[in-house]
Amino acid sequence: MTATVVDSIGLLVTGDPALGDGPLGVVRDAALVLEDGRVSAVEPAGAAGDERIDAGGRCVIPGFVDSHTHLLFAGDRAEEFAVRMAGGSYEAGGIRVTTDATRAASDDELLALGRGRAAEALAAGITHLEIKSGYGLDVETEARLCRLAGELTDDVTFLGAHLVPAEYEGRADEYVDLVCGEMLAACAPSSKWIDVFCETGAFDEEQSRRVLEAGREAGLGMRVHGNQLGNGPGARLAVEMGAASVDHCTYLSDDDIDALAGSDTVATYLPATDFSTREPYPDARRAIDAGVSVAIATNTNPGSSYTTSMAFCIALAVRDMRMTIDEALAAATAGGATALRRDDIGRLAPGCRGDAVVLDAPSHAHLIYRPGVPLAHTVIRGGEVAWARG
Ligand code: NIG
Repeated sequence: MTATVVDSIGLLVTGDPALGDGPLGVVRDAALVLEDGRVSAVEPAGAAGDERIDAGGRCVIPGFVDSHTHLLFAGDRAEEFAVRMAGGSYEAGGIRVTTDATRAASDDELLALGRGRAAEALAAGITHLEIKSGYGLDVETEARLCRLAGELTDDVTFLGAHLVPAEYEGRADEYVDLVCGEMLAACAPSSKWIDVFCETGAFDEEQSRRVLEAGREAGLGMRVHGNQLGNGPGARLAVEMGAASVDHCTYLSDDDIDALAGSDTVATYLPATDFSTREPYPDARRAIDAGVSVAIATNTNPGSSYTTSMAFCIALAVRDMRMTIDEALAAATAGGATALRRDDIGRLAPGCRGDAVVLDAPSHAHLIYRPGVPLAHTVIRGGEVAWARG
C-alpha cells in the first residue's frame, strides 16, 4: 500500500480532541499520513512515506463539509439580488423563476452547471457536499435532479416540497399529495434524504409533517428548512420527527433552543443567506451555550445565497453570530458531517477519509482575518491531490 505524507505542517487541525490540543485537536510541526484514501496516522513532521506533499509550514485543516446546497439549477437571478440590495425584500416566490429555467434545461446542461459549481466549491476547500433537488417541482424534473445529483455526491436530498409550483397555486394540499405519492416514488431510489421548506408562504406545519412522514416511510432520512424568514414551527417539528438537521435557524425562540438542546437534531446556520437576504444574523452563541449541536453550510443557490465560499460563511459566523474562530471551523467541518450523520469526514483522525486543505496561511484564523481572500493552496480528497493552486 502506498503511503502519502503531507509533511512539514506548521499547524494541523485534526478536529479530534484526542489527537492534539483543545477541542480542535491541534498539533504543531506535524505530518499527516494517508493510505488507501484514508488518514492512517498523525505523526511529528518528517514521517516516512512513499510520496510527499510539502505543506511548507502552512496550516492544514479538514476539508469543509457543506451539508446544505441547491447546486443543480439553471438560470440567473442577479437582477432580483440587485433589487434587494437597493432595499427590496426577499421573496421565496423567486424559486419559481429558477424552476422555469431548470425545467427547460437538458440533463447535460444541468450536469455541466452542477459540475462547474462543484469544482468551484472544491477549489474553495469543500471536499464533500450535499445536493438538494427542489427546482423541478414536477415528477419528471424532480426525478431528473435527484438522479443527476447522484453523479456528484452520495448525499442527495429530495426537496419536492420546496414551494408550491404555479400550476398548483391555491391547491397546496393536492401538491403535497403529489410530493408524498408519485414524486416521492420517483425520487426515493436516488435519494438519501427528504427535506421540506416549513415556512409561511411555503408549507405549513401539518403539510411539512406529512412530507417528512412519507419520506421516513420510504426509508429516507429527514431534514427541514425552517425558521428562515420568521419564527415558526420548523425547528420544533424537526426535533419531534427526529430529523438530522433543521437548516437556516435565523429566528429561534427560547423554546426552539430548548427543544434542539435536548435532541440529536443539528441546527445548521446559513449565514451567507442572511447576508444576501438582509435578514438579521442569528445569535449562535445562545444556541451553543445551551448545548445545541451546530453546523455551518453555504446554501449555494441562485436566489438567497449564490456562494461556494465556506470561508465567507465562517467569517460571517465569527464576525456577526458570536461564534469563536474554533467553533466556526468545527461547525463547517465536523458539524457538517454530524448534520449528515457521517463520521467518515470532517475530521483528520485515523480511519477518516483523507480530505484535507492546505491553507496558504499559518493558522485557520486567517480564514476570517483575511476576508474575501481565497486561501486554499492544495485540496486533498480521498488521499489524492484534487486541486492545487496553479
Ligand atoms: O434555502 N429557503 C428555501 N430555499 C432556498 C432559497 C432558494 C431560492 O430563493 O431560490 C434557501 O434559501
